[in-house]
Amino acid sequence: MNQFPEYDYRQDTLHVENVDLAALALQYGTPCYVYSKKHLQSQWTALCEAFGAVDFLPCYAVKANSNIAILQMLADWGAGFDIVSLGEMERVMAAGGEAGKIMFSGVAKREDELRKAIHCQIGCINVESEFELQRIGSIAAEMEMPVNVSLRINPDVNPKTHPYIATGLKESKFGIASETALPLYRSLLNHAWVHPVGIDCHIGSQIVETQPYADAAQHVFKLVAEIESLGIQLQHIDLGGGFGINYDADQALPFSKYADVLTPLFTGTNYQLVLEPGRSLIGNAGALITSVEYIKETDSKSFALVDAAMNDLLRPALYDAWHSLLPVHKVSGRAEKTYDIVGPVCESGDFFARSRVMSELGAGDLLAVMSAGAYAMSMASNYNSRQRPCELLVDNDQVHLIRRRDALEELWSNELTLC
Ligand code: LLP
Repeated sequence: MNQFPEYDYRQDTLHVENVDLAALALQYGTPCYVYSKKHLQSQWTALCEAFGAVDFLPCYAVKANSNIAILQMLADWGAGFDIVSLGEMERVMAAGGEAGKIMFSGVAKREDELRKAIHCQIGCINVESEFELQRIGSIAAEMEMPVNVSLRINPDVNPKTHPYIATGLKESKFGIASETALPLYRSLLNHAWVHPVGIDCHIGSQIVETQPYADAAQHVFKLVAEIESLGIQLQHIDLGGGFGINYDADQALPFSKYADVLTPLFTGTNYQLVLEPGRSLIGNAGALITSVEYIKETDSKSFALVDAAMNDLLRPALYDAWHSLLPVHKVSGRAEKTYDIVGPVCESGDFFARSRVMSELGAGDLLAVMSAGAYAMSMASNYNSRQRPCELLVDNDQVHLIRRRDALEELWSNELTLC
C-alpha cells in the first residue's frame, strides 16, 4: 500500500485518512470519487521542497483533475496553473487562481480563447505553431494589449511511455522544431505587443525516468543560448509535466530525482524554472468507490459487474491502464478467484481489470479503484446517459462534498425538443 500512503485498513475496512470508506459509500452512494487532501498537500510540499533551490513556479496541469475545490486549495498554496482551454481558464479564476500565473498550453487554441487570455493578461501563452503566433500577434495588435508568449519546442525525445501520451517525438502534433522556432523568436524582437518571455516543452506523461527530461532540457538550453544571441532575454524555462506515479509496480521516482537532474541547469542563471505537473500531485490521492452489482459466471470467465463504468474512469478502456483494486472490506477465509471486473456500459472495452486474482467477491461488496485522482473524473462522460459520480474531499476525519452526482434531469437539460 506504499503507493497510497493515505489509504489503509483499520479493523479490515479500508480508510482514507481518518474516514471509513464503507461509511462514506453508504452516505453518498456509489460510484463516488474520493480524494485525500493530505496526499495532495504532501505531494505539493515535496515538489516545492525538491525544487526549492531555484526560482520555481509549479503550474498545476488542470486537466488532471479540474474540480474547483482542488484548484482552490492549490491556488491558496500559491500554485500557478497550466490550462488548455477557456473552460480551464475560467475554472482557475473561479477558484481564485491568479491570472498572472496561468500558462496556456494546447495545440489548437481558438481565436476567442486567445482573445480572452490576452484580455485577462494571463502569465504566458505557450505557442505551438507559426500560425498560432501570427494569430496572437494580430489579436494583440487589434486589442492594443501586450501578451507574453513562449514557444513550445518539440525536442524529439522519447519519454518511453504509452504512445497516446508521448508528446515530444518529432512525429507528434505538438510543439515546434528548434530550427523553426529560432526565426520565430527573431520575428518577435522588438515586437510591439507580443513579448517572448519564455520557452516551453512537454515531452509526455507518466514518465518514470530522468533521462528524457535531461535530454529535453539539454535541447532547450542549447536553443536558449541561440535565442539570447539574438538579443532576446528570456525569463522562464518551462519543462512541462509528466512525472509518473505508481499504479502497480514500484516505478515512480521521488521529485528529488528529477530535481537532481534539472536544478543544476538553473543554478546561477536568472531563469525561473516552470513545471506543469498534474498526475504526480493528485493521482494517488484519489480512489473510485464502486459496488458489485452481480457476479456472473460463464463457461470461460467469472465477471464481477460493478456500478462504475468506463464513462466514470476511462483509463483502462483507453490505454489498457492497470489500476489496483482493493476490497473495502477484507473478509477473512475467502478463497482467491480470478475475475474480470467490468461495468454496465454496452462495450466490451468497459472493464476495470481483466483476469485479476482477488479474494472472492459477492454482490454488494465494495471495491476501491485506486490511483483515480488524475485523468479520472476529468475524463468522465455521460455515455449511456449515466450520471457522473459525486466527488468527495477527505481532510482528516472531515468529508466535503465537492461535486454532487449529476442529477438525472441534468443529462438532457441542454437539449431541446422539436416544436
Ligand atoms: N503540460 C502539458 C502541456 C500537458 O499536455 C500535460 C498532460 C501536462 C502538462 C501534465 O502532465 P502530467 O504531469 O499530468 O503527466 N489522460 C492521460 C494523460 C494525458 C496527459 C495529457 N497532457 C492518462 O490518463 O494517462
